[in-house]
Amino acid sequence: MTRTAVFPGSFDPMTNAHLDVARRASGLFDRLIIGVLNNPKKEPMFDADERVALIERCVADLGGHVSVDAFDGLTVDFARRHGAGFIVRGLRAVSDFEAELQMALTNRKLAPEIDTTFLMTALEHGYVSSSLAKEVARFGGDVTAMLPGPVATALGERLRTKARV
Ligand code: PNS
Repeated sequence: MTRTAVFPGSFDPMTNAHLDVARRASGLFDRLIIGVLNNPKKEPMFDADERVALIERCVADLGGHVSVDAFDGLTVDFARRHGAGFIVRGLRAVSDFEAELQMALTNRKLAPEIDTTFLMTALEHGYVSSSLAKEVARFGGDVTAMLPGPVATALGERLRTKARV
């Protein structure tokens, strides 16, 4: 039996906490599809195609069973399209739990055949979030501990371009 999981998120942009979860999940499942939610209304820093391309570079060493895809709409529909029986989400701290529980229970109501599995982020990434990294970078702070190398570079370039317009 092939165990397939999706790991959905905004990933605007992917952090070291996300990458840590992807790495752990890649060891647990036969196929892992990282799902980038395409939500232009949120005015992301990187559009969905850019986020997919960045994540592909970050997970290149995890193996051919890990892929990245953008999606619109419901996570459970994305999971079904890929034949996934599992949704992976990362938990950094207790503060994540309430929202994640609500999401997991909603997804179970919508798709009882799909289970959400939670993976704990490594302790050193427990404080990291995409929005915090963007804020630190915006004010010139060092984000190299928070973001994978290609992401930190792309974020720096994006902020410099934005500052020029
Ligand atoms: O990285 P994020 O922003 O915490 O990810 C949230 C995400 C994308 C997993 C969640 O918003 C989501 O699943 N959106 C798709 C719409 C959906 O399925 N909603 C019902 C489940 S809450």
